[in-house]
Amino acid sequence: MSETVYANARLVLEEVVIEGHLVVRDGLIAEIGTGAAPRAALDMGGDYVLPGFVELHTDHVEGHLYPRPRVTWNAFAAVTAYDAQIAASGITTVFDSLRVWPDKRAVGMDGDAPLLAATVREAGAAGVLRAEHFVHLRCEVTADGVVEEAAALMESEGVRLISLMDHTPGQRQFMTEAQFRSYYKKKSGMSDADLDIIVADRQDAHARFARPNRARLVEMARGQGIVLASHDDATDEHVAEAIGDGVAIAEFPTTDGAADGSHKAGIRVLMGAPNIVRGGSHTGNVAAESLARRGVLDILSSDYVPGSLLLAAFDLPNRVPAITLPQAVAMVSANPAAAAGLTDRGRLAPGLRADFIRVSAAGAGPAARAVWRQGERIS
Ligand SMILES: [Fe+2]
Repeated sequence: MSETVYANARLVLEEVVIEGHLVVRDGLIAEIGTGAAPRAALDMGGDYVLPGFVELHTDHVEGHLYPRPRVTWNAFAAVTAYDAQIAASGITTVFDSLRVWPDKRAVGMDGDAPLLAATVREAGAAGVLRAEHFVHLRCEVTADGVVEEAAALMESEGVRLISLMDHTPGQRQFMTEAQFRSYYKKKSGMSDADLDIIVADRQDAHARFARPNRARLVEMARGQGIVLASHDDATDEHVAEAIGDGVAIAEFPTTDGAADGSHKAGIRVLMGAPNIVRGGSHTGNVAAESLARRGVLDILSSDYVPGSLLLAAFDLPNRVPAITLPQAVAMVSANPAAAAGLTDRGRLAPGLRADFIRVSAAGAGPAARAVWRQGERIS
């Protein structure tokens, strides 16, 4: 039996913050108490101790695999560097969000999902990963070959979460064609004539493939117990479709109505933590803070900046005083764990995994000083 006691900590529990100690035994939280530790202990210096974060939607690995346009880095090195940054950000469980978008017409949109999933698996088997990794397939339902590629990955890699994306210009994330054009013009520098062709192609692909592909992916996920997420829901019809499909998570709803409808139906609403930190959406859609104010925000995801979870957890109670620090922390730990069906983690509570973060709130903001997963120091 191995036991370590951590004392002099401000423990962020489910509903309150207490000053006390934490006992870890064999990788699990054994005891939590107020006041001085019962026996010899490591001093946490009065810092906060938070549950390890559970991240459901991050594409941050892509920045390590493609550090410059047209440069593909060594995949194993990219994955381990990404994992190190994830762990140092306080994330102890991460769903690597891999794009499945095999479509000749959407140049540059297909990620390297098979390569990345296999590399994460190999790195995990080699024992070099700090966080626990799961596969989240981001499936673009308008892409011709999406079902086949997703099915192959389900078979070879195991998949825990599937999101159903549709980035057709004129709906969801790009409610107007103009939004789509301005986003891609900035991103790719394409001419208006090139964009005309792409818009027409995408609309054609949507008409042909979106409905049947979505139906097949939903059926496959249900058959294998894979959690489903909807993506960029904008209208009442989108929400009704998500309810009918048994969706558990609404990722990045783009309107107040879609967020309210999803939350009311028991679908957990996920928004980007950068959206909280920056005070709005980078694509000009709904602000996560306004959802938090109305009590319909359930989960924050780091999206493209791993460190944004910690920043947002401390920032949100300042921006929305009705939300306490424990409630904000639950949005990056307990709530995503529950949405993904992970019942063994996400809170500081006896019997759960000893996944926790030591956070200093001194200086300009919160900083993760140390991180443990199943009782082992990983950062
Ligand atoms: Fe999107």
